[in-house]
Amino acid sequence: MLSFLPSLVCFAAAANALDWTATPFNPPAIPLVVRTPYVSAWLPQGPGVALNDAWPTFWTGSILGWAGFAKVDGTSYSFLGAANVDGQSFEKAVQTSFEFTSTQSTFVLTAGPVDLEVSFLSPVEPNDLVKYSTPFGYMSVKATANDGASHSVQIYSDISAEWVSGDLGLSANWSTTTTGSNVIHQVSLLSPSQYAEVNDHTQYGSAYWATSNTAGTTYQSGSDTAVRAQFLANGNLANSQDTNFRAINDNWPVFGLATDLGTTSSASVVFTVGHVRDPAISYIVDGGALEDRSFHFWSAFSSVGDLIDDFLADYNDALTRAEAFDAQVDSDAKAISNDYAGVVALSIRQALGATELTISKNGDGSWNTDDVLLFMKEISSDGNTNTVDVIFPAWPVLLYTNPTLGKYLLDVLFQYQATGQYPNRYSVHDIGAHYPNAVGHNDGLDEAMPVEESGNMIIMALSYAQRTGDNSQLTTYADLLDQWTQYLIEDSLIPEDQLSTDDFAGHLANQTNLAIKGIIGIQAMSEIASIVGDSDKSANYSSIASSYVEQWLELSGANGGEHLNLHYGDPSSWGLAYNLYAEKLLDISIFPTSVYEMQTAWYKTVIDPYGIPLDTRHTYTKSDWEIWTSVIVTDTTLRDDIISGVRAWAADGLSTQPFGDWYETADGSPQGFRARPVVGGHLAHLVI
Ligand SMILES: *[C@@H]1O[C@H](CO)[C@@H](O)[C@H](O)[C@H]1NC(C)=O
Ligand SMILES: *[C@@H]1O[C@H](CO)[C@@H](O)[C@H](O)[C@H]1NC(C)=O
Ligand SMILES: *[C@@H]1O[C@H](CO)[C@@H](O)[C@H](O)[C@H]1NC(C)=O
Repeated sequence: MLSFLPSLVCFAAAANALDWTATPFNPPAIPLVVRTPYVSAWLPQGPGVALNDAWPTFWTGSILGWAGFAKVDGTSYSFLGAANVDGQSFEKAVQTSFEFTSTQSTFVLTAGPVDLEVSFLSPVEPNDLVKYSTPFGYMSVKATANDGASHSVQIYSDISAEWVSGDLGLSANWSTTTTGSNVIHQVSLLSPSQYAEVNDHTQYGSAYWATSNTAGTTYQSGSDTAVRAQFLANGNLANSQDTNFRAINDNWPVFGLATDLGTTSSASVVFTVGHVRDPAISYIVDGGALEDRSFHFWSAFSSVGDLIDDFLADYNDALTRAEAFDAQVDSDAKAISNDYAGVVALSIRQALGATELTISKNGDGSWNTDDVLLFMKEISSDGNTNTVDVIFPAWPVLLYTNPTLGKYLLDVLFQYQATGQYPNRYSVHDIGAHYPNAVGHNDGLDEAMPVEESGNMIIMALSYAQRTGDNSQLTTYADLLDQWTQYLIEDSLIPEDQLSTDDFAGHLANQTNLAIKGIIGIQAMSEIASIVGDSDKSANYSSIASSYVEQWLELSGANGGEHLNLHYGDPSSWGLAYNLYAEKLLDISIFPTSVYEMQTAWYKTVIDPYGIPLDTRHTYTKSDWEIWTSVIVTDTTLRDDIISGVRAWAADGLSTQPFGDWYETADGSPQGFRARPVVGGHLAHLVI
């Protein structure tokens, strides 16, 4: 491993030669509307792609038809997507800037004498459960004259039926509803399959595409070329519906909305897009029964139309709340560094956009808002539901935005294991192999990560209670927590050959970093025992943890070595000891300061241009674990260099995929993961 520290900022800047300004930088893929595992629209970048250079895509990379045109004084411009329209010519508006914040991605494109500010808002709304669970985002288009004069402006945008399936050969049906307030297109599969996915797209429910019904609003459904040509030729739509229901890819049905902004020097229009399915989640309860769960928003709205009316009417307030949230995050993160603020801003939508907040029904059919559970898809790596070692890296974003959301994620796992249906004595890995089927693992054959998941559950449960003063979860599940602790007492000092969360790196016995997690888990259970009033147990577990630390210091290379080993008995091996972060999170200190200082000195000698490798088995790293490591190092320069390496990776133009957490440290090239919620771990500095 070469040890040198180039100027990371210059390195990243040199890789990109954009035709527009990008603030804070141009990411691998730009989040457009990212709210749930199925409402996840991005603009892939690589070295840089303008909003009207390519189609938006689902997080997997498959196209989501979404086109936008403007007419300015009769001249047509495209501003969104990559449509060709037979028989119609138009110019491409020229992108001049792009900026992202924690909730917004904003583009400015010049369309002749008018600048179009096209802004995508994915609200985060962590403290309003109805709004948090609303699977919609906004696109606003503001046209402002760049020559001080007034111009005639019409704005058009459509979505295709690609929003309702991962199989383009399936047939869709659709309808358009106009009310006094709004025009709403609804698109479904003709033969939906509840709880099914194809290529990670959901196969039931409906996509919605809507705007306010003003005097100048028109709509049309029909083939892509017909609907777009109608607008390009006339600046409005025919207020007509195509009722020839057909396959998604059969003369590509699209759902157009157009607004005449009139002759103006500045005016805007707001659209909303989303996808609703009901029920949303199938969840295992007592006796193996499966409960249907629905989005929390149903507790406040009796129809999707009502929800959309409220959502569109709320746009200005939603924007004000989003701007306040963005500003708070930015100021908190800039207290670490500007590079850190960019990484954090790119992470929040992606992390929370992997979740869906649900409620159940009472026996009488009314909504039970006392039964709130949050589900998270392990996007990209395998599609599991509520994977414990994916929630764990994401945990900082939950603590930062609203720790109660974290409780709702853990409750999914606690409640299931408290039913006694899971046969293993360590913590389950996830609540179901295929989202959105949270059907448990009654055969006990889930991907076993015994020390990893047991330690994670105990650490997260304690940290939630510490942040909120709410000890109810610890009290209710004290027996389960203690059961998992027995496993840690048996297996965390000398961990058997097993997987850790970094399962792509393979099995390994005696993992030094895994032992850290197990030992902190035992100490955390000591604190939990004290909270629930068992001081004898607390003292016992605390003394076990201390004695394990003493033995671990010998096994890990901490006594006399240059660095911690990756696994016992192999002094040349090393890795990111990111599990020490749990000490900072829980405000405990059972590992001596000398361990932190030793690792800091070592990491300085092995940092590459894009960061520190995960361990000596490979040349790649994980951005989440790097940021955690940047919290535990005792030197601010090294902290900032690690963060700048992650930022350099995110800005290097070598990936077209939503923010990947797995990449190469030497050349900044991507590995296989994308769009995963683990990037919530990038907020690690903000919650200690
Ligand atoms: C599609 O057809 C089904 C079955 O007739 C119907 O229930 C559904 O409302 C239709 N969807 C739309 C968006 O029109
Ligand atoms: C794990 O470490 C212990 C303590 O050094 C040792 O006795 C044991 O053989 C190691 N296990 C493996 C599989 O290397
Ligand atoms: C401490 O805890 C361990 C593990 O549960 C148990 O085996 C042991 O008996 C306990 N010791 C005391 C003194 O309670």
